[in-house]
Amino acid sequence: MLDFGNINIYVFDSAEEIGVKAAMLLSETIKENHKSNVCFATGGSPVGMYKELIKLYNEKAVDFSGIRAFNLDEYYPIQKSNSQSYDYFMKDNLFNHINIDFNNQFIPNGETKDVDKECKDYDKLIEENGGIDFQILGIGTNGHIGFNEPSKSFKANTHLVELAESTINANSRFFDSMEEVPKYGITMGIKSIMMSKRIILIAYGENKAEAIYKAFFEDVTPEMPASILQFHRNVTVLLDKGAAKLVEEKFKARNK
Ligand code: GLP
Repeated sequence: MLDFGNINIYVFDSAEEIGVKAAMLLSETIKENHKSNVCFATGGSPVGMYKELIKLYNEKAVDFSGIRAFNLDEYYPIQKSNSQSYDYFMKDNLFNHINIDFNNQFIPNGETKDVDKECKDYDKLIEENGGIDFQILGIGTNGHIGFNEPSKSFKANTHLVELAESTINANSRFFDSMEEVPKYGITMGIKSIMMSKRIILIAYGENKAEAIYKAFFEDVTPEMPASILQFHRNVTVLLDKGAAKLVEEKFKARNK
């Protein structure tokens, strides 16, 4: 582990190993508090973790029946039945395979006609439930967390966001054509993320190395949204060697 004060960085040989570690950390939290509020993420990064959580559930090593599951973001507009919606993704990759109560699964509604109300209601829901205990994050190559895209200011609350071109390009790999990629998203804001008790950020692949380096070793700026995590008191970053490339160089230089 590379220890940078409030930020612990673990470097693994493979994405599978990251998944095992991340699943272990969440299951420990759930064992300590059966009623934990967990905020899940989508994208490729947490998929290994979710596979491992299903395995642990099948081995009866973890019980999800008491948790409340929130999600960071959703495309807008999108039908829940669309196989690319994050609602579908969560059911397909995790929720349908474990015993999370269906009534305790909360994802911003990409079908809503009233986005403003949806955003306000989502923040209220998180707040009324006492905030997030365990926050899972990926990171975009542009440093976004959730769909908090690089911008002139940090947005505190859940909001509608126009997706950055780099995000649309990166996410187009999941769609049949560029036209089908939604251009907007609803994302939890920086406030709920920063108020969560514990944050786990997962990244693998060399294409994430620069974002990881800038997020944790350069200035805190809304142009690199993940950099705000430098101000959080309990962040664990799980990387493979590719994503850790520039960080490891920095660590070696520091300890010379
Ligand atoms: C997506 C999601 C983010 C995710 C990120 C990285 O657009 N909205 O929540 O963390 O981009 O995705 P991946 O893990 O596939 O690289």
